[in-house]
Amino acid sequence: MPDPHDIASRKADHLALATSGDVGFVHKTALWEHVELPHDALPELSVADVDLQVEWLGKTLRAPFVIAAMTGGTAKAEAINRDLAAAAEAHGIGFCFGSQRPLLSRGIETGYRVREVAPTALVVGNIGVVQAGAVSAARLRDLLAFSGADALAIHLNPGQEMAQPEGDRDFRGGLATIRRVVAELGVPVLVKETGCGISRSVGERLVAAGVRWIDTGGAGGTSWVAVEMHRAHPEERALAARFRDWGIPTAASVAGLAGLEVSVCATGGVASGLDAAKALAMGASCVGVARPLLQARERGVDALDRAIVALIAELRTAMVLTGCANVAALHAAPLVLGEPLLRWIPRSSAVRGRVVG
Ligand SMILES: Cc1cc2nc3c(=O)[nH]c(=O)nc-3n(C[C@H](O)[C@H](O)[C@H](O)COP(=O)(O)O)c2cc1C
Repeated sequence: MPDPHDIASRKADHLALATSGDVGFVHKTALWEHVELPHDALPELSVADVDLQVEWLGKTLRAPFVIAAMTGGTAKAEAINRDLAAAAEAHGIGFCFGSQRPLLSRGIETGYRVREVAPTALVVGNIGVVQAGAVSAARLRDLLAFSGADALAIHLNPGQEMAQPEGDRDFRGGLATIRRVVAELGVPVLVKETGCGISRSVGERLVAAGVRWIDTGGAGGTSWVAVEMHRAHPEERALAARFRDWGIPTAASVAGLAGLEVSVCATGGVASGLDAAKALAMGASCVGVARPLLQARERGVDALDRAIVALIAELRTAMVLTGCANVAALHAAPLVLGEPLLRWIPRSSAVRGRVVG
């Protein structure tokens, strides 16, 4: 059983590094620059007609965004989560807790309650697949009930674990855990990566295990291998440095999953509402943003609010300029994709049929 102080200090390290450290990818991007949405000079739409509403994890979002999983378990995390959840409530978007492992393994409650400030927002719990494998569905239900969460995200992060000196090294049984939790939990289960992406073949295995919601957690935004590189002892740093850019770019992950019987959230390197429009156009049902919103909140709750307003305004603008009155229309919009992205997209992906030219 890990020492709770170790977990707390690791969480504090992660937050500090994610807020101000050099934790991006070096050469790899999410590949949004290789997605173009053809302009519609005759949109025949009023801005007021644009409907951003989507269904995600059993709830209706007023705009297709979630504040992706980040933190919990420390006093600083408590303040952050309350601000993020309150902003989610105000804008009708979703809020995700970071890993609830401290609550599960040590009963650390700090930072895992937001319902006072977010009574109606979609709230998503979070646990690693290894931790989920060690407990019953009833324990996970208790965890969600404590936090008033509507759904559970199970995170997959073998890249981060391999780079983390104290990380897990045994990844056997993950799919069996997911199959069991999906069958027994009784609330929606989302499976997510944390920055290395989900391939089509992993998506197919998840769908066969009963999963209906996937978050790409793709490469191009925050690199968790880079976060762990900064925390590693000098002799362990070289391995993490080598794998810092590892992963499937988010645009490639979204495109790869298109056409599977699964709803997709595009997270990883989404820096604008225009990136979000591209992700939705390639088939995502909603879009997650983690570090950029943490950094905005660090500048104050007004900056956080402005960041979310900008995401929504840019998405709305892209929808007008593509003549799309709602997200379903965006899902059918034509796409111009660059070669570096096309190379990643399997022939079986539904996106291929929508590429112009
Ligand atoms: C400070 C921080 C902590 C995170 N902690 C978790 C976590 O506990 N569980 C999880 O599933 N993902 C976690 N993530 C990963 C994010 O949910 C997201 O997948 C990843 O950061 C990519 O998104 P971004 O490029 O917008 O940051 C964390 C991200 C950040 C920035």
